[in-house]
Amino acid sequence: MDIEAILRKEFLEKEDLVRLLGAQGEEMKQLIRKALEVKLERLDNRVHLRGLIELSNVCRKSCLYCGVRRDNDRVTRYTLTEDQVVGCARLAKQLNYGSVAIQSGERNDPEFVAMITRLIHRIKEIDNGSLGITLSLGEQSEETYRRWFEAGAHRYLLRIESSDEELYYRIHPRDERHDFHRRLDCIDTLLSLGYQTGTGVMVGLPFQTLDNLANDLLFFRRKDVAMVGMGPYIPHPDTPLYPYADQIPSVEDRMNLTLKMIAILRLMMPEINMVAATANQTIDPLGREKAIQAGANVIMPNLTPNEYREDYLIYPDKACVSDKPEECFSCLDIRMRAIGHEILYNEWGDSVAFTKKM
Ligand code: 5AD
Ligand code: FES
Repeated sequence: MDIEAILRKEFLEKEDLVRLLGAQGEEMKQLIRKALEVKLERLDNRVHLRGLIELSNVCRKSCLYCGVRRDNDRVTRYTLTEDQVVGCARLAKQLNYGSVAIQSGERNDPEFVAMITRLIHRIKEIDNGSLGITLSLGEQSEETYRRWFEAGAHRYLLRIESSDEELYYRIHPRDERHDFHRRLDCIDTLLSLGYQTGTGVMVGLPFQTLDNLANDLLFFRRKDVAMVGMGPYIPHPDTPLYPYADQIPSVEDRMNLTLKMIAILRLMMPEINMVAATANQTIDPLGREKAIQAGANVIMPNLTPNEYREDYLIYPDKACVSDKPEECFSCLDIRMRAIGHEILYNEWGDSVAFTKKM
């Protein structure tokens, strides 16, 4: 079938997805134009911000692609103090960011759970609860997820990384800490507790096929998630997956594949929130702009104190590591205006898809 006919369809089937993922050149441009059109029609030209706070690189997991995996002993481990985290949230407020996202390596000991609960309460005290709070703190028990939700967090990101069990175990150790089915259960729990739930995958992984990626898109639709984050895989030299770096698509192909994933998902789920991941900007100086123009509508500028950012390198050469939060603030505003988009300040920027479902 030709691309135009597929782009006119109401409901995309698996075979359409595979066909669109393979689109090149002019066909790819058509797909991206259509996705931008759909986004502008349904969500306008607005971009939401989440000030990103990288709380800690201490992690109990050892994902085979991740630079801060537990078994990487070249990383200097840090955990921000509670006052530092609250300071980042205050800075978010000063910069008029409506929302913060707290991300961390995975820990599930009682001290950690209690610290996060306290932090949520303290951030909620800033300006009468005006800041939205997204958590990205890995797999936790239902009780923990509930505690944090009741404390005031309302969004949670937990990427499935790959929705294909076989591929999942090629990029994670096969042991009790890395259980594909537990991860799926966590996503279901988050959805059932009422979180605006986000998930996502890396694009351009070794062993990953277009068929895998099409299934990832179907997974997002089947779960009816409110948010999705997808970014290119970037090989990290201190990880077990690094030797396979010669088997992945080129930088340009990974970028294009990520853009196609974003664009197709925008057609499938027109009103969800989709982030233009920092990994996009890492492999292409205009990567975030391209993602926004392919259908993404959220950006996560980094608020982590600069002295810790070098230690949170989940992949090498991460963008903005040496930029001050204030610099990112003005930089982003200019960058978004340059492509005809407008940042919405002082708003939580909830997923329209989620709000309608409620
Ligand atoms: N390249 C790209 N993305 C990565 N992530 C982890 N390691 C890498 C890498 N090497 C992504 C994962 C994780 C998110 C925090 O960062 O998808 O969920
Ligand atoms: Fe960080 Fe531009 S967003 S410097």
